[in-house]
Amino acid sequence: MPIERLVFGGMPAVVASSAMLDVLERARRAAHASIAVLITGETGSGKEIVARAIHHYSLRCSRPWVDINCAALPEQLMESEIFGHEKGAFSGADTAKAGLFELAHTGTLFLDEVAELDPRMQVKLLRVLDGVPYFRLGAQKKIQVDARVIAATNQDLDRAVGTGRFRSDLYHRLGEFEIRVPPLRERPDDIIPLAEYFLAHHSDQAHFSGAAKAALRQYPWPGNIRELRNAVVNAVISAREYEIGPGDLPARLHRGGLRAVPTSGLRLDGREREAILTALDRTEGHHQRAADLLGISRRTLTRKLKLYREQQADPADPHREISLAP
Ligand SMILES: Nc1ncnc2c1ncn2[C@@H]1O[C@H](COP(=O)(O)OP(=O)(O)OP(=O)(O)O)[C@@H](O)[C@H]1O
Ligand SMILES: [Mg+2]
Repeated sequence: MPIERLVFGGMPAVVASSAMLDVLERARRAAHASIAVLITGETGSGKEIVARAIHHYSLRCSRPWVDINCAALPEQLMESEIFGHEKGAFSGADTAKAGLFELAHTGTLFLDEVAELDPRMQVKLLRVLDGVPYFRLGAQKKIQVDARVIAATNQDLDRAVGTGRFRSDLYHRLGEFEIRVPPLRERPDDIIPLAEYFLAHHSDQAHFSGAAKAALRQYPWPGNIRELRNAVVNAVISAREYEIGPGDLPARLHRGGLRAVPTSGLRLDGREREAILTALDRTEGHHQRAADLLGISRRTLTRKLKLYREQQADPADPHREISLAP
């Protein structure tokens, strides 16, 4: 099977499975139609790479690429980050600053973890996306920006709309075209090429034994490619021989996952919960380190754990059996 080695905006991408080739084809098509794209998929599945692929394939590829993690900042800071501010707009605003929207003018703005936007920012963003001119904080003059918006989330936005956490009008505006990045377990043909790619980064001579490859292929990878990369790096460090055997891989690979994966109600957030539990398990419950491992903010992790605890109290929830310490 041919293995594609691509680079999008400096991020290398190894693609072998037909499922991922389809995703890239969708990205290419979306790139040509100048519409908003919503990228969904579990944590660590490669959403940012797909977002960068869209920019790369688009006519805006030589124009600015600006990304913002919507979970990274508290509300007030987020507003001035996205929309900019004038000097003196609030205490500490010593100089005027352009917002990220302005910086993305003629290019692409990537809104990562978009489900984390608070309600007021959701309204403001919707208006700007609808082409309504806006003010920098404290400004007198309105500005209008032409930025192509790509958003990504590892959450079930349908559900967030259902519970009132996310505006349905913004959901539809962002999701003019949706690309779902399949989790690694749905594209097993990518596992070994990716593992070998990460291995080659760390060692010229190391290679996987047949049994190690079999173990890598059968594991469900709840943390997806990020988890796979960590497992490979750990294996290179702990292996005593150039041949990496199954014993050099994390013990959870031999147990069929840390916890039983529910066979019914396989919702995205259920798998996400698996990834979070795996990360907490591996960091012995250390929230900051678990968040780092998952590539999400500590705030997002805390919010998700709170949500899971609430669901756990709900007898209708199919994932109740998973135990979550407070
Ligand atoms: N096809 C791929 N080839 C090589 N590396 C990859 C590939 N897909 C993802 N990665 C790497 O795996 C890591 C996770 O990918 P990425 O950041 O795109 O995930 P994500 O879906 O945005 O996750 P999250 O929801 O946690 O933000 C990154 O370091 C990325 O470079
Ligand atoms: Mg990401």
